Amino acid sequence: MSVSTLLKVVAIGHLMGLVLSSTIERRLNGTLGRTPHMGWSSWNVAQCDAASERYAMDTAHKFIDLGLKDLGYTYVNIDDCWSTKQRDGSGNLVADPNKWPRGIPAVVNDLHNMGLKFGLYGCAGEKTCASFPGSWGHEVQDAQLLASWGVDFWKHDNCFTPCPVNPPPQTCPDTGVDTRPWYGKMRDAIQSVAGTKEILFNLCNWGRNEVWTWGAEYGHSWRMEVDNWGDWASVVRIGATASRIAEFSGPGGFNDLDMLFVGNGVLTEPQERVHFGLWAIAKSPLVIGADLNKIPASSLKILRNKDLIDINQDELGIAASIFQPPNAPAPVRGQIYPYWAGQLSDGVVLAFVAASSGGGKFSVNFADVPGLKKGVYRWKEVYSGQEGTGEAVSFNVAKDDIAIFKATST
Ligand code: GLA
Repeated sequence: MSVSTLLKVVAIGHLMGLVLSSTIERRLNGTLGRTPHMGWSSWNVAQCDAASERYAMDTAHKFIDLGLKDLGYTYVNIDDCWSTKQRDGSGNLVADPNKWPRGIPAVVNDLHNMGLKFGLYGCAGEKTCASFPGSWGHEVQDAQLLASWGVDFWKHDNCFTPCPVNPPPQTCPDTGVDTRPWYGKMRDAIQSVAGTKEILFNLCNWGRNEVWTWGAEYGHSWRMEVDNWGDWASVVRIGATASRIAEFSGPGGFNDLDMLFVGNGVLTEPQERVHFGLWAIAKSPLVIGADLNKIPASSLKILRNKDLIDINQDELGIAASIFQPPNAPAPVRGQIYPYWAGQLSDGVVLAFVAASSGGGKFSVNFADVPGLKKGVYRWKEVYSGQEGTGEAVSFNVAKDDIAIFKATST
């Protein structure tokens, strides 16, 4: 699809988004997930080793001390490896007593008293990706346990799921297998306990079966790609895919670009700006994946950018997408296109991304930006704080860096 055709369908897409949102209101709680969730997850920090009470409580205190809670980071999510390797005699999941000496309800209670939320991870298959018990055949029982513990968030992974190969391998290689029925089972289980506890439901099927076309009927957010491995190539791959499927995000259901790798020492500072900036304007959940005891000041500054967080949390929930200004080259699949824009409730977000294209001076007339008409606008570049007014904006952007503007009427 050409960019101009893509832009024409965006408006229709947003109408579709409204339809999908009303669907989710019928299926899951309508007040949860109206904007992308913000928080932290253990996986990118130290994989299995971070699935513990110590990390959860430490992060919760850091959320308060570092001002992250006040900015909207509230979910403290524990990923794979939190349970024992076997269910108990009644078939219930058991928190590993070595990692959770006080048990999970005590931790949930502490977090709730701090005004925070607690999330857990599970899997649609027989085992999780790290071979802990999965929810296959236990969906309702697991949802009841989560509700009784007061858990606020559930991520549902896609390992050891039924596959034409028997026994199922860790990851079924057959991408044609329909993952929908498994996610429907867990959605219905979560729905069945909603009277006791409302749980934000995150689908993690790695973008299979074009999950963005049906995810809003199943959960509040859905992983639209395979993992963010923390390298620059992952940021480019995921960002490029996100630019093609922006129209499927909307209040109550968002493309999840995966947990962040800002602050883990793998990307350069400009690359971290691109990573966080793209995730924010694409309306992805913003889930920190770094150890907050060790995070560099420059990374923390990026994660605490209030202008970007406000853009991410804008009530319209419209994800920015790419547009092609006159004389600009056509987009190339798999690369990050330099020009992005998205409607906000009080203006438009515009970004110049100097990734695949190389660095240099980028310019656009506001008249060419989707959502704006010819005229004079006030703009602010959110990372530098630089401001200006005019009918156009020009900005130097170094390679693998980004400039993100909020444009508002004068
Ligand atoms: C999969 C998911 C990751 C993470 C790991 C845990 O790879 O995509 O996000 O949850 O499993 O084992």
